[in-house]
Amino acid sequence: MKYDVFISYSSSDLGIVSKMASYLEDTVEVGLKCFYAQRDIPTGVNYPRAIVDALDNSKMMILVFTEESNKSEHVDRELELACEGKKPVIAFKMSDVRLEGAKRYYLKNLNWIEAYVDAESMFKKLYLDICRVLGINNAKIVSTSSNNIRYKNNYFKIEDDNELERLKIQMELLEDFDNDIYDKLLEGRNEIRVLDIGTNCGETIMNRLGARDNVDIIIGVDINEEAIMAANSSFKGSKGFFYKLDIESRNFITELKSIMKIHKIEKFDFINISMLLLHLENPQRIIREVQKILVDGGSIFIRDIDDGLNMAYPDYNNSFKKTIEICSRNIESGYRNSGREIPTMLANAEMCDIKLEKMGINSLGMSYEEKDALFNTYFSFILSDTRNRYEKDPNKRENKEDYEWLESVYEKLEEDFHAHNFFFNLGFVIFTATKKSSKTSLKCR
Ligand SMILES: C[S@@+](CC[C@H](N)C(=O)[O-])C[C@H]1O[C@@H](n2cnc3c(N)ncnc32)[C@H](O)[C@@H]1O
Repeated sequence: MKYDVFISYSSSDLGIVSKMASYLEDTVEVGLKCFYAQRDIPTGVNYPRAIVDALDNSKMMILVFTEESNKSEHVDRELELACEGKKPVIAFKMSDVRLEGAKRYYLKNLNWIEAYVDAESMFKKLYLDICRVLGINNAKIVSTSSNNIRYKNNYFKIEDDNELERLKIQMELLEDFDNDIYDKLLEGRNEIRVLDIGTNCGETIMNRLGARDNVDIIIGVDINEEAIMAANSSFKGSKGFFYKLDIESRNFITELKSIMKIHKIEKFDFINISMLLLHLENPQRIIREVQKILVDGGSIFIRDIDDGLNMAYPDYNNSFKKTIEICSRNIESGYRNSGREIPTMLANAEMCDIKLEKMGINSLGMSYEEKDALFNTYFSFILSDTRNRYEKDPNKRENKEDYEWLESVYEKLEEDFHAHNFFFNLGFVIFTATKKSSKTSLKCR
């Protein structure tokens, strides 16, 4: 076929379409040949015929979904033709307006790439998704300098004792970091119904909220079945109930509602999301959906990470800097710039009173043991994730170099970290927000 991808769009969105085509054709190692009408149909040629020919000669379609293309009848016709021809379609969604025309019929159950916030940053994901659909196995992004893309990253394995131990250390280390925020948010409330998303074995949420008298019930959900089994056995007979749920699955809200029904919960008063968003492909969708099951005036607590807030000094030979860069290349370590995107996601979900409550935890005033915990909470997983990346693809030079270098300097990093004059700030962040009352017509500011 002449083209890999037929791009369907409204002419008002030409700007983003031409950037998309040049990304897919030129910025990647295995370039994809794109068709888009304004560039590829010469003047004077019969337009409808050229469209039909191009579609017949394309392996699949990308629909650039915006308010304008939603209204476009041309786009409807192209979509109908693609579906009749059984061409795979990926919708690149830059707007969340209600679907109109044929799109309501054809797009309902399609895979979307949600690109509302920063469309260009989603090109990389688009490329990888197209390659998956077309069965292109050697797809690579030319620049691998950092993992600046969100992936669904179900990294947790119950048999990984090191990760279980690390999560425990992290839970203890962050107790003071979290607790005053929980105190403030829960003060004066009663019979609080809590939802904890990405609860793991339930330890952290039960440690923070399990013993509070004003908390009635805690529902924890996690994608990992063994973690949920462990949680239910550890907290049997308590106010905690735990369920397996993939929060990124298409029907997660229906599944969540059936869990709520079991416990006669109509809405939650408090939603807790700790160290999860960095591991999700589309956290915006989750925040938009879960705010709908939060009571008016209810709160969301989000703890996450942003490695842009990390500081290490003195940093001899830039070893800490290099380690943080290596971390950004490990998909298992999650999306390391996640923190900065959270206020925008909360605002897009119409949440009010968005606050950045905490911005980093640092080594000042820490005992030796606390510093040890801070070191382990961060650097131990970088080493193991880098090792995993190397073992998965040992032929890739960067994987080998990163792992061998990190292993060779790891002990020295630990030694430097414990020096009395060393300063380290790690970019844990806590954001909170409140759901505005539906009776208030005022918009959140
Ligand atoms: C880093 S742990 C955080 C555990 C706990 N919330 C804490 O702060 O200690 C992330 C957890 O999110 C879970 N998780 C990852 N992707 C998920 C998904 N799509 N749906 C539900 N849970 C998910 C993992 O299984 C893991 O238990």
